Amino acid sequence: MARRERRVEFDEVWMRRYLIAANWKMHGSLEMVHKFAEGFDQGVDLGADVVLFPPAVYLGAVQGLTSKYVQLGMQDVGVASEGAHTGEIAASMVKDVGGSWVIVGHSERRTDQSESDVLVAQKFASAIAADLSPIVCVGETLAQREAGDAFAVVSKQLQAVIELCGVSALVKGAIAYEPLWAIGTGLTATPEQAGQMHASIRELVAGLDQDTAQAVRIIYGGSVNPENAGLLFAQDEIDGALVGGASLQAASFAAIVAAI
Ligand code: 13P
Repeated sequence: MARRERRVEFDEVWMRRYLIAANWKMHGSLEMVHKFAEGFDQGVDLGADVVLFPPAVYLGAVQGLTSKYVQLGMQDVGVASEGAHTGEIAASMVKDVGGSWVIVGHSERRTDQSESDVLVAQKFASAIAADLSPIVCVGETLAQREAGDAFAVVSKQLQAVIELCGVSALVKGAIAYEPLWAIGTGLTATPEQAGQMHASIRELVAGLDQDTAQAVRIIYGGSVNPENAGLLFAQDEIDGALVGGASLQAASFAAIVAAI
């Protein structure tokens, strides 16, 4: 049965909209922003949330060049709402300049900045408090997968957010399943591997609240490209993608968006 038909039956209230996000990480320049905007002309609502996460300093430049169908966000956010925290950016400031999303707990920050599950949960909470939509990233290393611990790791990361913010808060943002072994490696999780993990995550949420489980968007990240996007999106449990490398060129990101 087609994915869309099944969803209408599955839940009359909630239709999960696809979410396709471009995480540029620490890549880009003003020149690249201009080039990207010329090539990525999203002139209509495709029935998906399309969100760009440029490095924070380029937020304004991107905003000035993209259409109203492209939303913007920041790749991280501070916990405090304001004050003497040099280098931090508050969620309310993201909102103030027109951003509507933030990424929290990306594995690169969990590794490079030693961000703990608790800190990630606090960032999720600060985003919600500022009326932003946080995407919380979860995912296991290859060693953890091979040891059979993948779901235990993912579930622990998610539980921290649920404990602090409550399960229903997940609907205000999204969950991104990003297995570390698939990030930037060209090794994509197979649609079945990703689909299985997404289903397990949804089951975990359903154990706490059925409505949240049906409504929450679970997107996949890890070497998504124009060739594999369609197969990933064909999985019922995959509600979109968080794209790294392939989001840096307008043409490949547009092809991924088109794959919905
Ligand atoms: P790649 O698409 O480059 O593997 O990066 C995935 C990612 O980390 C997105 O947040």
